[in-house]
Amino acid sequence: MGRLDGKVAVVTGAGSGIGRATSLLFAREGARLLVSDQNTDGVNETAGLIAKNGGTGHALTGDSGREDSVKALVERALSDFGALDVFYANAGISGGLVPIFEQTEDYWRQILQTNLIGPFLAIKHAATHMIKQGRGSIILTASVAGLRANAGAAAYSASKAGVISLAQTGSAALLGTGVRVNAICPGLIETGMTKFIFDGARAVGKGHKIGQLNPLQRAGAPEEIAAMALFLAGDESSYVNGQAFAVDGGLSSSLPYTRPIR
Ligand code: NAI
Repeated sequence: MGRLDGKVAVVTGAGSGIGRATSLLFAREGARLLVSDQNTDGVNETAGLIAKNGGTGHALTGDSGREDSVKALVERALSDFGALDVFYANAGISGGLVPIFEQTEDYWRQILQTNLIGPFLAIKHAATHMIKQGRGSIILTASVAGLRANAGAAAYSASKAGVISLAQTGSAALLGTGVRVNAICPGLIETGMTKFIFDGARAVGKGHKIGQLNPLQRAGAPEEIAAMALFLAGDESSYVNGQAFAVDGGLSSSLPYTRPIR
């Protein structure tokens, strides 16, 4: 028996990294999925992998920061599967490490549109349907960058702090409806977004140093974020609401420190 048997889930940013790993895990645990991404090849590949593993995953290309796209996603999930139990608003962009004085208004707007307005739209449109069912789980990908400085540029970090707030304010706005909203704050995970960091370190023989700032002293895998998403999607987390969970090897739990000399 799967942990998501009988459930219907939408996952955005499903064409790569965390979104793909989560889609594959959700499907393996019995959910029927609508996977979405602005990258058509990527999302079709994810749907193909789900099918290859014996699961059900339909693909839809779309911009998850735009209201018409998000509305279409919810409508498509309902028309294809007749229900919507889980919406994982995961798509995001980093914007790179642009110094603050070189950041333009357009740069900020683009990042906020995808990273913050997208999750707001997911709550708005998924919850509209979930309220009628009296239950549902909305999951947002925030970041440790939303908890503290130094894990991204200002716009990215501010957008992710906003996502953490959305988990709180979204769940409060949905009081009494049975619909839950939670966020995940990944640490450094090897995906398309962070490929340049891993490639760069490995190219100079420093791959072993990646992730050294957290107590586990390693980077994370997308599957380790997917495992938290699975918990939040399923009924095991039925009393978990309005929270932001760091999945970061302990990075955000500690202050900078100097190792004792041995
Ligand atoms: P990724 O780059 O491998 O995957 C992101 C996917 O989102 C891509 O397939 C991309 O095409 C899609 N996407 C971006 N903007 C979109 C839009 N407007 N509409 C539809 N699709 C869009 O990166 P990753 O790491 O899997 O990113 C997933 C989420 O995890 C993001 O929200 C990111 O900010 C967050 N995150 C990632 C961390 C990491 O270390 N990789 C750390 C903390 C948070």
